[in-house]
Amino acid sequence: MMALSQTISGFRSSRWFALVWIAPAVLAGLFLLVLAARGIRASEGGQSFVTAFPGESALPWFAPVGFPAWLAWQHGLNAFFLLFIIRSGWLVRTTKRPDAYWTRNNSGLIKTPGKPVRISLNLWMHISIDTLWLLNGVLFYVLIFSTGQWTRIIPTRWDVFPNAISAALQYASLNWSVENGWVNYNSLQVLSYFLVVFIAAPLALITGIRMSPGLAVRFAPLDRIFPLPVARAIHFPVMIFFAAFTVVHVTLVLATGAIKNLNHMYAGNNGYGWGGFWIFAASIVIMVAAWIAAKPIVLRAIAGTFGHVGR
Ligand code: HEM
Ligand code: HEM
Repeated sequence: MMALSQTISGFRSSRWFALVWIAPAVLAGLFLLVLAARGIRASEGGQSFVTAFPGESALPWFAPVGFPAWLAWQHGLNAFFLLFIIRSGWLVRTTKRPDAYWTRNNSGLIKTPGKPVRISLNLWMHISIDTLWLLNGVLFYVLIFSTGQWTRIIPTRWDVFPNAISAALQYASLNWSVENGWVNYNSLQVLSYFLVVFIAAPLALITGIRMSPGLAVRFAPLDRIFPLPVARAIHFPVMIFFAAFTVVHVTLVLATGAIKNLNHMYAGNNGYGWGGFWIFAASIVIMVAAWIAAKPIVLRAIAGTFGHVGR
């Protein structure tokens, strides 16, 4: 009896206790949201709004149809890199006393005056994967602008805004028309992909470079117009945005015709076979395997080939 009451009082004082009221409150909130969306859609005004703005905005005539293989590769690599960027960023934030540090070899190709800065192994991993992510991203920008794929994720008409509201209303009422991402994304997708690619990613880059210890001396003149604490105050919420976007994005991908959507982005076709699903599943297996392999001993060995690892 004693043990049970201790367990209960332990749970009451733990931070999980808040879930006792947060979970039902969130459920009740969602329920009300669905009811409200259904109410609006049933109304005359709501119906004419959804008819006038069905949820997607017209594309320019030269917009391509479907996704080329390079886009699928870049999308998949982006997800892979982000997983480890968030993991290492999180470790940078939460590790008070890192047990290993890395210093760049100041010889060979990149030789700079002065002593290279010592950074934690976690930050070494963060910045290394950032570099790969950045290369992938630069290539993505070059390719979407040279092929017209940009028209799919950059709004070109103002009616994208009412159409996004309409798409949100349709999702919230749990009754949406058939999606056709192969030809045109709905406006909510367009706006959120635009935010991720053209606002969040550049923000992460600018604030991340600003915080890079190796560049601190060079950025000293920026201390007044773009102080370090400002960069830090932006960088972390950007990570939260990436994580929240991914949760909602993947949930909707799976809830709005998983097999077809996975075929679009992973197999580059618009059919109903299982190809996209299997490629996606393989990509998840690779992510899990890399996650397990990324042990300190392995990271030290890799970091050691680019510099000095020590305490
Ligand atoms: C690993 C889980 C993921 C899956 C299964 C997935 C799936 C998809 C699918 C199926 C599409 C096309 C949607 C359609 O045809 O309607 C798409 C597009 C897109 N996804 Fe993801 N995604 C994932 C992770 C991510 C992450 C982590 C990001 C970025 C933070 C991201 C950003 C995008 C963007 C920007 C597009 C539009 C690409 C373009 O058309 O240029 N995705 N995703
Ligand atoms: C090329 C782009 C990026 C660069 C150069 C970069 C660089 C950095 C640097 C130098 C730090 C250390 C800050 C410190 O010493 O306290 C850091 C921390 C961090 N980064 Fe990045 N980063 C980049 C992209 C990203 C992205 C895309 C994410 C997540 C989606 C991310 C998530 C984090 C997190 C969570 C931290 C810990 C922040 C904190 O302590 O408040 N970074 N990053």
